[in-house]
Formats: sequence, C-alpha cells, structure tokens
Amino acid sequence: MRKAKVLRIPPPESTANEPQANPFGLVIFGASGDLTRRKLIPALFRLMRSGLLPKHWYVIGSARTQMDDDDFRKHVRESIRVVEESGPIRTAEVEHFLGRFHYLAGDSQESGYYSRLTKRLNELDKDHQTGGNRLFYLATPPDSYTGIIRQLGEAGLNRPVKTARWNRIVIEKPFGTDLTSAQTLNRKVAQVFKEDQVYRIDHYLGKETVQNILFFRFANAIFEPIWDRRYIDHIQITVAESLGIEHRAGYYERAGALRDMFQNHLLQLLCLIAMEPPANFDADTVRDERTKVLKSIRPIPPDEIDRFAVRGQYGPGLVNGREAVGYRAEPGVARDSATETFSALKLYIDNWRWQGVRFYLRSGKRLAKRKAEVAIEFKWVPHLLFKPLTPKDIQPNTLVFRIQPEEGIQLTFQSKHPGPKLCLDNVMMEFDYRGSFKGPSPDAYEHLLLDCLIGDQMLFARRDWVELSWAFITPILEAWAKAPRVPIYEAGSTGPHEAEALTEQDKRQWRSL
Ligand code: BG6
Repeated sequence: MRKAKVLRIPPPESTANEPQANPFGLVIFGASGDLTRRKLIPALFRLMRSGLLPKHWYVIGSARTQMDDDDFRKHVRESIRVVEESGPIRTAEVEHFLGRFHYLAGDSQESGYYSRLTKRLNELDKDHQTGGNRLFYLATPPDSYTGIIRQLGEAGLNRPVKTARWNRIVIEKPFGTDLTSAQTLNRKVAQVFKEDQVYRIDHYLGKETVQNILFFRFANAIFEPIWDRRYIDHIQITVAESLGIEHRAGYYERAGALRDMFQNHLLQLLCLIAMEPPANFDADTVRDERTKVLKSIRPIPPDEIDRFAVRGQYGPGLVNGREAVGYRAEPGVARDSATETFSALKLYIDNWRWQGVRFYLRSGKRLAKRKAEVAIEFKWVPHLLFKPLTPKDIQPNTLVFRIQPEEGIQLTFQSKHPGPKLCLDNVMMEFDYRGSFKGPSPDAYEHLLLDCLIGDQMLFARRDWVELSWAFITPILEAWAKAPRVPIYEAGSTGPHEAEALTEQDKRQWRSL
C-alpha cells in the first residue's frame, strides 16, 4: 500500500498547568517482586528525572525476604540500569534517588507487621517531611490482597493522618477471577477504603496511544459525526503477543487469555472507542461513560457461546524463526491443561450509536507478531461511478490506532492510480509517534503512578466497571469450563482456525497480523 504525505504540526511545549504531586510516602507490598523491579522503580526514577515528583518523598519496600535498607538499595540500583540504556545517568542523581528507599521485612498478613510499619511510617514522614500523605501499592500475588487490606484497616492506616491531605491504595490486576470473587474483593476493599481512595490499575489505560483514542475522538471535529452505525461497518480490536507465558505458569494456568487480557485491557479499549462524548473531562464523568458501554453490551446467551466466543491454546511452532514449545510443554503447565492462550469474541453494543455494528476482539500468546491495534472499518461506498468496478471491488476506508509496537494512527483511502487507465489504489495517510514527537513515550506506569499521586482516577477501573466487565465475561468462562476441549493452534500462526469462522460467518475478515 502506498503512503500519502501527512503534515505534522508540533505540539506546544508548555507544561505550566499540569497538576503537581504532593509530598508522599509510598509503601510497596511485594517489593522483592518482578513488577516492582521491572516497572515501579524505573517509573519512579524517570518521573524524578523529569521533575514530576515533589521535593519530598520516600518509599518503604515491604516483603518477606530478609534485607536491610542497604540491601534493598542494591536491588533498586539494579532496577534502574534499564534507564541507563537510554542514556547515561549521573551518580548524584542515583544517590539522591537511592536515599529515598527504605525496607521493612516481614509477613504482611500478620498484624504485628503493621505496628512496625506504622512506627516506620511516622518516623519517615518526619524525616522526609512528607506531611503524612501515603500511597499503599499492592504489587503482591492477588491472594494476599484481602489480608493486607484488612490489616491496613485494623491498624488505622486506611485513614489519612492529621497532617496529611490524602491516603490511597493501588491494586494491581487481576481484580478477582470471576464476578463473585470480584464482588467479594470489592466489598472487602470498600469496608476499609472509600472508592475515591482506590486506584485499580489497568496498565493499558496508561499507554499514550490508548489515551490518545480519547483525544483523537474528542479534540477533532471531523471524526465524531461519522463515529456510528451509519458509517462504520465493524471494529476490530487485536492484542497479539509473540511471547509465551514466560515464567508465569502458576498464575496463567488459573487465568487464561479471557481473564488475563479481555476482562481488563480489551474491554477498556472497547469502552474508549465506543463511549459517548463525556460532558467534561472529570475522572468520574469519563468513567461514567466507559461504564455505560459495558451496560450496553448485549449478553451472550449461554447456549450460543460458540457463535460468539472462540478459544485456542498454542502448540509447538516457529515464532520469529525460533522454535517454541507448545503451552502444555512449558514448565509448570499441566500436560493436559485446558487453559486458553488465545480468545476471540464477537459482540454487539445495544444503543442508538452502535446498533448492528459488530465488534471483533482477539488476543493471544505465541502468535506470529507482537501487535496491538484498534481498527475502525468503514462501510463500502453506496454506489460506485467507476464502471465496471462495483463497491465491493474496492477496499472500504480503515482507520487504525496502532497501540504497539509502532505507535501511530493510519487512515486508508482510495486514490486514482496515475495513468490513462481507470485504476484505483488503496493508499495510506499516516501519523507516527516517533516521527512527530521527540523522544520515546513515557511508560504506562509513569502515567499511572503520577495520577495516583495527583489523585486523578480517570485512568483507573471503578468498582462498577470491574463488576460489569466480569458479569459479561463470567458466563463465557463457565461455558468453557463445562467443555474443556481447547483447539490447538501452531505457535507463530494467527491463532486457531475457529477464529476465522467468527468473522467469516459475517462475510468479514480479520486484519492480517
Ligand atoms: C498483562 C498480562 O496484563 O499484560 C500479560 O498479564 C500480558 O499476560 C501483558 O503479556 C501485555 O502487556 P503489554 O503492555 O506488553 O502489551
């Protein structure tokens, strides 16, 4: 496909009106874990370097591993090496950063731990002059969540201290494993924290390109009028990964693709694409609109799940030219596992805007490529002047939000091929982040951590949203649990053949990966 030229207008540089984070103390439960090492510490370091952290702040790492502050700081030092890969960092900066990190070993399920934690927090609030604002971050396995939340409540750590402006908690996904468990967890959280203190993370909402869906839709006048069933034929949301489950068999065996990717990331993408324009840009107004989308999804009748939902599990194959073992041969996976590593769904949104428009969603591991995108497929032209061509002979317009890896937006349209013969060609207008904006986009965790500190809940999942998403997903999980035969697809392919049938029954096709 040929590319058309696109004019790029650079954005203004000013950040003058951006809200500032207050001084804070951050307690990370699960401080010796992968998430802390790979995401949280590098995100904090980058935020500090960008001048987005306040002058006064500190971190307490909490985990069972016996360590003192110095040992923990060695781990922290290792974690920020990844930042060095994008340019040298100054020793003074590193020292300044490390000086903020403290460690408190112990069992976060036991009440004795919390009297020590309270004492340490009180001391460090004074030493670091933070005024007592505290952020508790649950980066532990999910089975520890309720224990920690209960203990925080019993120790009174759920309430802001007198000198503080706020006290908040961040909860990582997975938030429950089905509707009942999510409701139970929500109830337990609500017994201890008010909803405006709770930040349920979905890291997809922190991605620049995902947030840009909102700006694209509501900061441009020309797209919204055609954003409905009159002009759009169908929408495809794809999150394909070439990686397998890595070392996460313990978690993934119980999760599977539908819980791991759909209940959260893919449904959030769907909501951003399908929501109505909010009345303003307040966190709850925007979250109300996202929630309304979930309320409008047509439930899938339990006896028709197979017409709307497909699953698959990767077998052995070649991914990017390298041999990959099948899922059942991965360490820690049962040899007869029925866990799905791929899912695809077709759904409808029953409201005025979207009546009759099909939404196709798919996500899987060990696919041919890593690619995440949302594609808006417009309708065919109603009548074609250029005989002998008919409307079906030409490609309808497609607008694609490329979320990763090559972040950008592209619009395809028809153009006359130069020359005397009548010939149409599909061409593309393209905007790419790298070319248009200087430097790499911030990691999703930088956005989200900063929002927790500022107190902006827009990019976090609200209690009702979480329960509605599980209400939609759970019947599919239940139907699959009753019929545990999972089609196998070849690693490095585009997924199971059954997924093709999902679009072919509507005479549509998945986009190529
Ligand atoms: C996580 C899932 O939430 O998202 C992982 O648990 C998945 O299984 C990951 O690999 C994908 O995130 P990203 O940002 O790499 O697309």
